[in-house]
Amino acid sequence: MHHFEYRQGQLYCEEVSLETIATEVGTPFYCYSHATLSRHFRAFDSAFSEVNHLTCFSVKSCSNIAILSLFASMGAGMDIVSGGELHRALKAGVPAEKIVFSGVGKSEDELVYGLESGILMFNLESPQEMFFLNDCAASLGRRAPIAIRVNPDVDPKTHPYISTGLRENKFGIDLDIAESMYVQAKEMSNLEVVGVGCHIGSQLTEVSPFLDTIKRLKLLIDRLKEQAIEIRYLDLGGGLGITYSEEAPPHPREYAKSLLAEVDGIDCTLIFEPGRVIVGNAGSLITRVLYTKAGPVKNFLVVDAGMNDLVRPSLYGSYHHIQPVSDHGRQQLTVDVVGPICETGDFLARDRSLPQVEPGELLAVMSAGAYGFAMSSNYNSRPRPAEILVSGDKFEIIRSRETYDDLLRGERVPNFLR
Ligand code: LLP
Repeated sequence: MHHFEYRQGQLYCEEVSLETIATEVGTPFYCYSHATLSRHFRAFDSAFSEVNHLTCFSVKSCSNIAILSLFASMGAGMDIVSGGELHRALKAGVPAEKIVFSGVGKSEDELVYGLESGILMFNLESPQEMFFLNDCAASLGRRAPIAIRVNPDVDPKTHPYISTGLRENKFGIDLDIAESMYVQAKEMSNLEVVGVGCHIGSQLTEVSPFLDTIKRLKLLIDRLKEQAIEIRYLDLGGGLGITYSEEAPPHPREYAKSLLAEVDGIDCTLIFEPGRVIVGNAGSLITRVLYTKAGPVKNFLVVDAGMNDLVRPSLYGSYHHIQPVSDHGRQQLTVDVVGPICETGDFLARDRSLPQVEPGELLAVMSAGAYGFAMSSNYNSRPRPAEILVSGDKFEIIRSRETYDDLLRGERVPNFLR
């Protein structure tokens, strides 16, 4: 139940018909359900209620300040990977002491911003970053709370582009190296060891890779204990998958049950960094059919949303369910749903059986709440779409559609060309 349902043949988000929103704000637009967002956050967070934990929503998956504010009001922390995300999280009212900073390439400015804000911890991804952070903290007269993001070399069995916990990936640090880094960090006067972190990949549909990871991290935590290095926070990252099509990932309750059994005996506050599982199915992209085009070997539905609005199908070959906003039992036709961008890779679906639709009709591209708007761009000088939040029978624009002037913001013709 994601609060996107038909009523008398019209697709609604909660109590609002998507047709009504389209008439008012134009297309394409992203539409999120407040009830679904809050239910998903609560379901995840409460699954761990029996232990000390902090659910840090992964800002990169859906970074609109309205959505961050909603989670902040529910007690969420945030997982950030850039200065921009830190800025968003703070502006949304998330206390700095609930923010964890991951990422392989944090710049000096970003480290300083994190230090000055007083975030919970920096998840370090290389020895060089460790020394650099120590220097930055020293020049500010501070101590930086750190975790080391371990690369446990576990196969998350997901798309190679979103697998992060294998040795060949750029993320995290080998267990053995991590151990010696902890020993060094302990002696560094401007670092304070507080945690161990990991994130093995995204859209995982099984728990076993998470459990294998915890086993390895446990060994590390034990070895650190022997060296009088106490770990207060165990950050297990994000990665729990959702159903786009046929996938059957565990419910957060089952995921929590399995993980809690495995971490039993570890005396740490657990940190989680979920993104997709909270927002993925809470949002959809609404687009209008511009033209129907019968090619010599394929039928195309040319719609007004392209790969700049939703890049997942083009980039990962991802499946997103597509359905007409107005449903009245029509014949099915196999089509490619394509956007207006000048790239052959610009498609939202290929060889998809859909009810036959006419130009002017609306389509809903489902499960687009995570890594949808967040990965959108202005390619082909297309203004990015509006974002709408629905709550009950009300809806509000939480990000206006960009204008042509927005596209040129910051650009200038240099004097020598005038
Ligand atoms: N923590 C870290 C350090 C991460 O890198 C990520 C995602 C998360 C947490 C949240 O993972 P989630 O719970 O959403 O699986 N653009 C891709 C997904 C990239 C994921 C990147 N890291 C996609 O559209 O499928």
